[in-house]
Amino acid sequence: MVTISAPDRIAILPGIACESDSIETVPLSEERSFGFWQQDIPQEYGSLGAEEIIERIRAARERLGQRCIVLGHHYQREDIIQFADVKGDSFKLALWAAEHDEAQYIVFCGVHFMAEAADILSAPHQQVVLPNMAAGCSMADMADPEDVYACWEELEQAGIAEETVPITYMNSAASLKAFVGEHGGVVCTSSNAPKVLEWAFAQKRRALFFPDQHLGRNTGIKLGISLQEMPLWDYTRPFGSLGGMSDADLERGRVLLWKGHCSVHQRFTVDQIRSAHERGAKVVVHPECRMETVQEADCDGSTEFIVRTVTDSPPGSVWGVGTEINLVSRLAKENPDKTVFCLDPVVCPCSTMYRVHPAYLCWVIESLAEGRVVNQVVVPDDEKRWAKVALDRMLEIV
Ligand code: 13P
Ligand code: SF4
Repeated sequence: MVTISAPDRIAILPGIACESDSIETVPLSEERSFGFWQQDIPQEYGSLGAEEIIERIRAARERLGQRCIVLGHHYQREDIIQFADVKGDSFKLALWAAEHDEAQYIVFCGVHFMAEAADILSAPHQQVVLPNMAAGCSMADMADPEDVYACWEELEQAGIAEETVPITYMNSAASLKAFVGEHGGVVCTSSNAPKVLEWAFAQKRRALFFPDQHLGRNTGIKLGISLQEMPLWDYTRPFGSLGGMSDADLERGRVLLWKGHCSVHQRFTVDQIRSAHERGAKVVVHPECRMETVQEADCDGSTEFIVRTVTDSPPGSVWGVGTEINLVSRLAKENPDKTVFCLDPVVCPCSTMYRVHPAYLCWVIESLAEGRVVNQVVVPDDEKRWAKVALDRMLEIV
C-alpha cells in the first residue's frame, strides 16, 4: 500500500513551482495558477496526518459508491495514483470520458486542460472535478488564445489561412480547441500526432501546430517533412511581423510551429542518452523532448506508450526513460525484474501535476459525499460545441 510520507504532510501542501531549473515553495493561500484560481481549502485539511487523509478519502469514496470515478494521469504522485480507478495518458483518459457515462462525478487527477477535455466529452449529467484548480500546464499557457487568433489573422492577411489546418495539442485551453474546431482543424495528443498530421495534409497543404514546437517538429520529421518546411512562429513578436517568418518561410512551410515547449521534457539531452547507452540501457523518451533527443533515443511515444514499452520488455531489460519523474519511479517500482532509471540525474517533477495533493483530493471527495460539488471544471457551452467538434474529429481519426 502506498502511503503519504510524514514530511509530505506539511512540506508538500503548499504548491511547488519548478519551472526551468529552480524550485520554490509557494504558500497555499497564494498559489499562482498557470491559468486558474484555487480557493483556499478549509484549514483542517492542512493539519491532517497522512493515514487520516487516506482513511477519509476511502470512507468518502465508499459513501459515493458508483457515483464517483477517479481518473489519474500517469504523472500523478503515488499518494494520488493509488486512488485512481483508471490510469492513462491524456488520450486514454479523454476516450474514457467519452465512452463512460455511468458515474455522476468524474474526479480528474491531472491538470486543467485534461479536466476540460473530460467535461467536453462526457455526458451532460456528469460533473468533472479537478482537486486543485491551480494544476495547470505551463506549456498550454504558452498559447494564449489572443496570440493564436492574432497569428491566424496574420495568416489570413497573407492569404494562406485558407490552405492551413490549425492543429492544437491536447495541452491547450478549451477555447483553442473550439477555435480549431470552428476553423476546420483538430486536436492531437502525443499518441496520435502522426495520424492527425497526415489527416491534416489530406485536407490542405499546410498545418499550424500549437503550442508544442517539439511535438510538432518530431511529428513532421516522422512524416518526412524537412526542417526548412517547419518554420517557427514566435508569438512574442509584434502583430504584423509574421511571427518572425519571412514570406518565403511561410510559402515553403508545411508545418508552422508555435514557439511553445515543456520545461520538464526540454531537460533531457543527447549526452544523457549517450551515457545511458554506455550503461547498456535502451532509451525511451516522450515526444515533447527536443528533436535531437528524440532522434538519439531508441523509441519515443506518449506516457501510455512508455508504460507499455517498459512493462512489455523482457526481464533483465535496462531502460533509461526521458519523462516526468513520478512515472519513471513508478515504472521502476512496478518492474522489479528490470532496471529503470530517469535520464536526468537532477530530476524535475511536473510542478503543476504535483499540485494535486491528497489533502485536496480528500476535500473534493468529502464535499461530493456531502452533496456539494467543489472545483467543478465547466467549459462554457459556446466553447464546448466547437471544441467537441475538434475532439470528435481526433477520436474518429485514430
Ligand atoms: P501524454 O498524452 O503522453 O499523457 O502527455 C501529456 C503531457 O502533458 C506530457 O507532458
Ligand atoms: Fe504540461 Fe510539461 Fe507538465 Fe506535461 S509535463 S503537464 S506538458 S508542464
